[in-house]
Amino acid sequence: METKNYKQIAKKKFESLQEKIKNNQDVFILGIESSCDETSISVVKNGREILSNIVASQIPIHKRFGGVVPEVASRNHILAIDKIFNQALDESGCQIENIDAIAVTYGAGLMGALLVGVNFAKSLAYSLELPLIAVSHIKGHIAANYISHTNLEPPFICLMVSGGHTAILHINDYNSQKLIGTTIDDAAGEAFDKVARILGLGYPGGIEIDKLAKKGKNDIKFIKHNSLKDSFDFSFSGIKTAVINYVHNFKQKQTEISNEQKQDICANFQKFVVSELTEKTIRACCEVGAEKIVVAGGVGANSQLRDELAKLGADKNKKVFFPVLSLCTDNAAMIASAGFYLIKDGLGLSDLSLTAKPTVSL
Ligand code: KG4
Ligand code: ZN
Repeated sequence: METKNYKQIAKKKFESLQEKIKNNQDVFILGIESSCDETSISVVKNGREILSNIVASQIPIHKRFGGVVPEVASRNHILAIDKIFNQALDESGCQIENIDAIAVTYGAGLMGALLVGVNFAKSLAYSLELPLIAVSHIKGHIAANYISHTNLEPPFICLMVSGGHTAILHINDYNSQKLIGTTIDDAAGEAFDKVARILGLGYPGGIEIDKLAKKGKNDIKFIKHNSLKDSFDFSFSGIKTAVINYVHNFKQKQTEISNEQKQDICANFQKFVVSELTEKTIRACCEVGAEKIVVAGGVGANSQLRDELAKLGADKNKKVFFPVLSLCTDNAAMIASAGFYLIKDGLGLSDLSLTAKPTVSL
């Protein structure tokens, strides 16, 4: 239920918060993230400094199912969220009265999981009479870089590579962007997770493939034809199917696939994905004449992607930025930071009708 009063109070506080930011006064945002299998709450000062960032991962719970089970995720968010809230506030050294706004991921993600965070945020905002800021998870991943590199500012080319999205964006300003290319099928992280599953490497698979690929030989040719060669769009379903077929053929001939063979498959799969991501990102950066490349999302933790993009970027005189590893995957600090920049531009203020959205536009 919403009283007219809350809306008015929140709007007034939102406006004075904008003033506070303009006048360089300290602003403390409490961020909430629950879009998938991490329950996270964080307090961030001035959009750039983490005072606390508690992340409760459900990975051990979902591991035995080989992937995230949405209903199980929602339940576990409910079980965790108030404890995480108290921990985040305690660790930040802030009193609840110091918090200026509540920023929450409203999408994209799992509906039930998102609703836990959104409803918790609405209750907090209403009871504390604070502005409620609706943040896109994608914007959050980009903002992880503002915390990791405190002097980084737009414009830049962003390679967004997560479990749910793969895209190249031209970020003109904190809240203004243009889509340059996107995946026409699977997201890169999704392909990593599916290939890992086929190889029996468990969930989430990206990090396991990354580890095994380091020891593998690059002598398998999975893909010969690439129809998106000159485009900025990506396709990862072809390589995924090629790996599936390769593994199936192999299994038909032998009983067990050896660790060494798994390493080789990982090395070749990862090499393909990384070369697609790096080549198109560098080309896009040169085409729009940007000076910086910023990587966002969980796949940004990949060691080969980090090494090669840094090297290729340096060759072309481009500065390349990655979030610190702990901020590559889902966390609430990135949501609080994105919330700060929305407020700064007078955006994101929501009322208590805010609901979760499984998809948001790039
Ligand atoms: O950004 P994120 O936390 O989730 C979404 O918002 O979708 O990213 C999770 C994805 C998973 O697919 C995971 O396998 C992948 O990031 N990932 C990695 C690595 N670490 C996490 N992929 C490749 N190499 C890694 N080291
Ligand atoms: Zn994410």
